[in-house]
Amino acid sequence: MAYENLDIKVRKGVLILTINREKALNALNAKTIEELTHFFSVSAPRRKKIKGIVITGAGEKAFVAGADIKEFLNVKKGEGSHYAQRGQDVFFMIENFPKPVIAAVNGFALGGGCELAMACHMRIAGAKARFGQPEVNLGIIPGYGGTQRLVQLVGKGKAMELILTGDMIDAEEAHRLGLANHVVEAGEEVSKAREIIEKIGTKGPVAVAKAIACVNANFDKLIDGFAYEVNLFGMTTETADFREGASAFIERRAANFTGE
Ligand code: CAA
Repeated sequence: MAYENLDIKVRKGVLILTINREKALNALNAKTIEELTHFFSVSAPRRKKIKGIVITGAGEKAFVAGADIKEFLNVKKGEGSHYAQRGQDVFFMIENFPKPVIAAVNGFALGGGCELAMACHMRIAGAKARFGQPEVNLGIIPGYGGTQRLVQLVGKGKAMELILTGDMIDAEEAHRLGLANHVVEAGEEVSKAREIIEKIGTKGPVAVAKAIACVNANFDKLIDGFAYEVNLFGMTTETADFREGASAFIERRAANFTGE
């Protein structure tokens, strides 16, 4: 599928996915959500050789300024929840992707943009990044998981304040709250994210995938995360990666993992 609003490049095994609607500050319209869904359900799983994915926004001003407000205005009665569900579905695919997905937040990450960044496994904030859930200004609430993931990342009190006031916070504040993993100079977001993915790429791929699943299990009310960890730990001990990793340690050499 050729994408209209996504730009995809692979460099040294790291896939850079750019949301490419610069004139609308990369706002997520239905077409972009559809393309992201196709990318994460069909294209990305087929790319066995990639080490991970960096998501960023086109231009210098915005990561993603939210769901497309102009499009939302035309939502018919009864359709609003379908919009939210489609966005949530693809954000779950991102959250559960078995390789690291890192948001390189180069500017405004508002509403659905902040929610997209929060669905990623980590967030790198450039100095110009601004985060917020301003939906109440529009008379709606976050619909792409913001009321849930913001609580998970910054705690209930601060999440409540940000969601109820609609206030924007800068990169330093996002870092202080635990919303951003690192703050870097403007323009350095993607390279920092790449650096982290390249480091993770030297680890056992099965272990990385299982670790992502276990951390996510902590937030799944239907799963006992400790029991889940016991089970997945057991699986990792039966992999060729574990035999290779342990042998490499004993032989004092770098491991050469195959992901099996
Ligand atoms: N949807 C559609 N278009 C958007 C947009 C959005 N979320 N955000 C910005 N744009 C468009 C503007 O309409 C404008 O287009 P035109 O030039 O055609 O008028 C263009 O992008 C540039 O934006 P501004 O002129 O507003 O730029 P600015 O520098 O003055 O302000 C901003 C930047 C503070 C980010 C401001 O654009 C803004 O507040 N945007 C909306 C943010 C927002 O409310 N996001 C939440 C959306 S709802 C949501 O996401 C629901 C959900 O959880 C699923």
